[in-house]
Amino acid sequence: MTQDLRLTIAAELERTRARTALLTDAVDEGDLIRQHSPLMSPLVWDLAHVGSQEELWLVRDVGGRDPLRPDIDELYDAFKHARKDRPALPLLNPTQARAYVAQVRDKALDVLDRVRLDGRPLLDGGFAFGMIVQHEQQHDETMLATHQLRAGDPVLTAPAPPAARVPVSGEVFVPGGRFIMGTTTEPWALDNERPAHDVEVPAFYIDAAPVTNGRYREFIEAGGYDDPAFWSERGWAYRVKSGLVAPLHWLRDAEGWHNRQFGRISPINPDEPVVHVCYFEAEAFANWAGKRLPTEAEWEKAARWDPATGRSRRYPWGDDEPEPRHANLGQRHLSPAPVGAYPDGASPLGVHQLIGDVWEWCSSDFDPYPGFVAFPYREYSEVFFGGDYKMLRGGSFGTDTAAVRSTFRNWDHPIRRQIFSGFRLARDA
Ligand code: AVJ
Ligand code: FE
Repeated sequence: MTQDLRLTIAAELERTRARTALLTDAVDEGDLIRQHSPLMSPLVWDLAHVGSQEELWLVRDVGGRDPLRPDIDELYDAFKHARKDRPALPLLNPTQARAYVAQVRDKALDVLDRVRLDGRPLLDGGFAFGMIVQHEQQHDETMLATHQLRAGDPVLTAPAPPAARVPVSGEVFVPGGRFIMGTTTEPWALDNERPAHDVEVPAFYIDAAPVTNGRYREFIEAGGYDDPAFWSERGWAYRVKSGLVAPLHWLRDAEGWHNRQFGRISPINPDEPVVHVCYFEAEAFANWAGKRLPTEAEWEKAARWDPATGRSRRYPWGDDEPEPRHANLGQRHLSPAPVGAYPDGASPLGVHQLIGDVWEWCSSDFDPYPGFVAFPYREYSEVFFGGDYKMLRGGSFGTDTAAVRSTFRNWDHPIRRQIFSGFRLARDA
């Protein structure tokens, strides 16, 4: 493996750590150790957990080095303690956590300098390093969701997302037929995205854009939250038990609906994709609108299938890595962008904003692809298969470019809405 790959990996590790530092340096020590919601870990847990995973995989496994802190493995094992219990653990304090992640990083960079990158499957294309970069980026998105739940004055700032450049509305016809779903060749694709396989998808229509705040407000105002006819049985039970009346972080006053984004309250922008809705809300909206959510295969076909060649692309716009003009990714903006802001990121069929802005709920459950092999550990994906999860595709404004592709599969419980989740609609042809 080449010196170029080592440099790319080192740059990705550094870029990622800068984001982690920004998210954790933005608040004081009290806010780092506090639990901002029982759904989330204290930020200082995420920080040390990121270091702990890096130590396990890069320092101990790839590097074959001695453990730095075997005594804390258990504290930062996500399967050992539920998020709600983490604040009570004897966690590293912020100073200790920062020192720990820095020490681990020094060792990991030393391993990167010395290791042969083609010795074993774990290192093919730098996979182990790519997995650790993505892991930290995933936790950076989780930490951003914690920031969104944090009370108090704003601490994060970012420029507003770009304005719409083209009008986008209506739906796109996707012809029936086979397409290649998943990937075998993408070097940093995680186990659940593999292998590439043929899927027959009947013809369908998909909306050219995600559902906007404006449309969602119509659903609210039409009494969508009050009529069980639009909701699944489980969805309605959850809607009643939790008293849902609008997306999370929406507030209503005499002038209408506002939302709270990272401590700032402003009127909802009717042209931005709706965010912070759970699967059950998305499903109810779809029923109200006379449509349905896409399956995961439909979403991926809309995002990747090139009618001119029959090939599946890496991204809707082609095979090139995401650039700022393609998609609202990477926490460059702290909000979804209005529909029509990313014409350069559209798919060949004319579907917009599939990547970035908001994660899109799909109707599929989390199951393995045919030929799935857990790699390199069962706890990334396999233990979640067949559980109570729905799929989310495409990434959000909070997702890093390294942590999303058209094949990337995210999943969560259908009641979750603290994540940056929205949706788009589909229907049978
Ligand atoms: C793939 C986003 C569902 O955050 O729970 C982070 C990613 N796995 N650490 C999650 C993950 C282990 C995972 N998701
Ligand atoms: Fe993790």
